[in-house]
Amino acid sequence: MNEMATASAMATGARKRIFSGVQPTGHLTLGNYLGAMRRWAEVDQHRADALFCVVNLHALTVEHDPARVRRLSRQAATLVLASGLDPELCTLFVQSQVDEHLRLSYLMECTASDGEMRRMIQYKEKAAREQGRGGSVRLSLLTYPALMAADILAYGTDEVPVGEDQAQHVELARDLAVRFNQRYGATFVVPKAVTPPVAARVKNLQEPTSKMGKSQDRTAGVVYLLDEPEAVRKKVMRAVTDSEPDVSYEPERRPGVANLLEVLAACAGSDPERLAEGYDSCGALKKDVAEAVVETLRPVQARHAELAAEPGLVDAVLLAGAERARGLARPRVDAAFEAIGVLPGR
Ligand code: AMP
Ligand code: TRP
Repeated sequence: MNEMATASAMATGARKRIFSGVQPTGHLTLGNYLGAMRRWAEVDQHRADALFCVVNLHALTVEHDPARVRRLSRQAATLVLASGLDPELCTLFVQSQVDEHLRLSYLMECTASDGEMRRMIQYKEKAAREQGRGGSVRLSLLTYPALMAADILAYGTDEVPVGEDQAQHVELARDLAVRFNQRYGATFVVPKAVTPPVAARVKNLQEPTSKMGKSQDRTAGVVYLLDEPEAVRKKVMRAVTDSEPDVSYEPERRPGVANLLEVLAACAGSDPERLAEGYDSCGALKKDVAEAVVETLRPVQARHAELAAEPGLVDAVLLAGAERARGLARPRVDAAFEAIGVLPGR
């Protein structure tokens, strides 16, 4: 077995390892659900040793209110459980409760270059937004992909299921794993991003050329997972389309209509092109999208209400998850410290 294969076997045993995360920077959206969370529950936790993380340290990279981040962290954990994660099948935890993420993040900063961090699209966009609001850009916003790489690499992760917006960050984590291994010896598994076939990038209903994001100002175009059915219907019925009366799937030319078709396809388990043939007006399409979204969210909201009524339960799941995660991450992070030239401390 060559060195890389050994590193991989050490990481996974027979099963694949999956890692993904969600930031508690705002209320979770339909984009989070269709682009990531739903597959974590329906597919990933059954096919691999999967870890899911509420990445609260990432939420400190932009202006934040401590009490709100605390509240949103518990809410995000509750919502991913409500979307179907089973703590018997997978590991759910909060990033800050496992020190290995921060330890390894520093080594990733010592592996990455300043230039590759500055090239990240999300950094450029978020930095521009913060500056536009008259605020300053936190240094941690620039170094954020180093922490994200640490999240992934600490666990010997093979696959990272994410929406399309995160593909560039996962690509960077890959580059850092390869570089570290070349410089200091086989330590990390080289991970790859896995994006969903549809709804990899759900767009804002009011601005269908940009992502439906949870910390956006244009909330009229954002469907939140905890929105009441009436609110969902209103947002979908008011979605921006175009002046053409019919329905066709042409993402470049007709982004608004394409977004609605993609959401419907993701909710109904179909494909957007085929669905387009069944409609001759945007009004009829919107009605079906609204109902499909309401029905998709209904079980998640019901389960969320049950879990929220028992707050001790979510905390217990998170503590057990952190303990398991710590045990998995520590040997590899210790090995990385030793490989890079730090005297062993424990
Ligand atoms: P974030 O909200 O940035 O913490 O993202 C958590 C997960 O949801 C990541 O895998 C993202 O790629 C995914 N995600 C976020 N927004 C969207 C969206 N509008 N469409 C598809 N996936 C998304
Ligand atoms: N940066 C990701 C996002 O904004 C969240 C995240 C942090 C993540 N660490 C991760 C996702 C590790 C996958 C794997 O969505």
